[in-house]
Formats: sequence, structure tokens, C-alpha cells
Amino acid sequence: MPLVNLRTVLDHAAENSYGVAAFNVNNMEQIQAIMEAANECDAPVIVQASRGARAYSQDNYLRHLMLAAVELYPHIPVVMHQDHGNSPKTCISAIENGFTSVMMDGSLLEDAKTPAPYDYNVKVTREVVGLAHKQGVSVEGEIGCLGSLEEKKPAHGAAEKHDAELEEEPQAEGAMSHLTDPEEAERFVRDTQVDALAVAIGTSHGAYKFTRQPDGEILAMGVIEEIHRRLPNTHLVMHGSSSVPQELQDEIRKYGGKMNQTWGVPVEEIQRGIKHGVRKINVDTDNRMAMTGAIRKVFALTPEKFDPRDYLKPAREAMKKVCIDRMVAFGQAGHARKIKV
Ligand code: G3H
Ligand code: 13P
Ligand code: ZN
Repeated sequence: MPLVNLRTVLDHAAENSYGVAAFNVNNMEQIQAIMEAANECDAPVIVQASRGARAYSQDNYLRHLMLAAVELYPHIPVVMHQDHGNSPKTCISAIENGFTSVMMDGSLLEDAKTPAPYDYNVKVTREVVGLAHKQGVSVEGEIGCLGSLEEKKPAHGAAEKHDAELEEEPQAEGAMSHLTDPEEAERFVRDTQVDALAVAIGTSHGAYKFTRQPDGEILAMGVIEEIHRRLPNTHLVMHGSSSVPQELQDEIRKYGGKMNQTWGVPVEEIQRGIKHGVRKINVDTDNRMAMTGAIRKVFALTPEKFDPRDYLKPAREAMKKVCIDRMVAFGQAGHARKIKV
């Protein structure tokens, strides 16, 4: 089957109460890892590319790799999604390059750093929805800003803080202010007609999300429950949802990598979100860590090797394992063949 749009997959997920991992990709091995995992557990797939990923891999390579994926696995519905589009222009160029779903992230200005006013967010998101829907492309919007509740400010971009830095920054008054306001979320969906809504609940991108095992103080799952109560028919999206498993941290350290102790979003918390309307769960860091650990191991144990296949194959296997774990945990496994397009 050809690439499908996000709405098709998330509607099925909502009807059958499961969530779908959205994995970031930059190259062929990552796409192969996801497709092999999906094939093994019969799961629908969301592959997403950031602006940085598109620049790294080049749109033409990426498009043809995705077409190869659907050609090799015709029974698996695959969504190709633009992650964090920073402007209508980025979303339009994604659509021109075969993406079947785009995120217009108007929670930040075009610089992808500065928190944007509500009216700006509505304006750019509505513009993209108007253009995308005409072509059968789905749109994800975002309201509220990602960022840690342990820090003073929302953390944007790939900023990663280490334990020592975080300890110097006590939780500031108003730290909750960048979280999604459920009332505003309701208005935003009505004003924009987005197909999926990313919400801010204290998660952030990268490995350094929490300085301790997160509880309700720093991971605001309650906000998701309130948003779902107000918007029971809206597909919610959790960004920054890598779990940063201890064993992947240990593996990187064991083979010479430098990584401070850190905590991610526990899979059980994501499962709780899925019970309350979360349908798309963004995961990048866990796969990066799995591949890096595997490559480090080959380099450390067999320093004489220099054929890239000797380390890319184990890296692909390690990522495939993470993908299978998430596909099973989020409940998407077993549903690929049931989705009628
Ligand atoms: O949005 C965050 C994803 O992990 C993508 O990261 O912008 O480094 O490709 P990136
Ligand atoms: P992680 O860094 O937690 O994997 O989040 C990825 C993400 O949200 C991409 O949009
Ligand atoms: Zn994100």
C-alpha cells in the first residue's frame, strides 16, 4: 500500500485504545530497523524526520527510502511525518517531498526557540491545516512549550543539561507556566482543526529529562487527563518520550561513552497516557543510545574492524529491539493488517 496519513493510523489507534510510537530517522539503517520491527510484530508505523534529519539525509534520498519501505512491506501502513515544522514553508516543502503528515509547531516562533503568542500559533497552524487537508495530509499542532519542570525555563532545541548544572537551578516560581493549559488546548483545537495535538507536560527532548525518577511533581500526567476530559475525540501526542533505559546508559558507559546518570519517561507513565487519549508517542533518544552503545561495543571489543557493516548491523539490531519493545508496550503490535486504508 502507498504511504498513509497520520489520521488513518491514529483513528484506528483511538478506536482500539492503543498508542503508536513515532520514531525519528536520519538514514537507511534506522528505517530498516523500524520496518523489521514492525514486520515482526505486525505494527503500523510512524516514521518522522526533523528539519535537521531532512537536511542530513536529503529529501530525495529520504523519499525513496520510504518508498522502498512500503514496497518491501506492503501489508504495513506507514506514515511519513515532518517532526517540528517551524513554519508553513517547511511543512509545504515536506508535502512536496511526499510526507503524508506534518507537524506545524507554532508553539515557538520560526527560530524554533522563542515561545510564540497564541494568535501566532493559531494563524500558522490554520494556514497549514488549510493547505494540507486539501491534499489528504494530516497536521499535528502543539500548544504549550516542552521543557523541564525542574528548570527555570522551558528547554528548547536540543539543549541538554548535566546534573551539576541542574542542581544549581531550583524550581522557579511559575515553572508550570509553559505546561499546556487545558482550556487553551480546547480553544486551539476548535480554532485550528488539527488532526493531532502535542501537549507539554514537563518532558523535554534528549537524554537529560529528569534528575530523578519522575513523579507527578515533574511529569504532569494529570494535565493529559484533564485535556482528554475536555477533548475526548482529539488524538494527543507526547514529545520527549524516550525512557532513557538504565541498561542503555550502562552500555554506553561500559564501552567508554560519557553520560551522566539521568531519567526518562517511564513506559508505565506512557501507558497511563494512552488510557487518556495519547495516540502518538515520539521516541528518538532511546534509539540513538541503542545504536551508539552497540557501535561502541564493536569498536571497544574488536578495534581491528573497519567495515561499516560490522558496526552498523549490530546498531540496527539494537535499534530494532528498542522499536519492538515500544511497539508491544504501546499496544500497536498486531494491528497493521487490521487497518483498512
Ligand atoms: O525533535 C527532536 C528530535 O529528537 C529530532 O532531533 O533535531 O536533532 O534531528 P534533531
Ligand atoms: P526524545 O528525545 O525523548 O526521544 O523525544 C523525541 C521527540 O520528541 C521528537 O519530536
Ligand atoms: Zn519533539
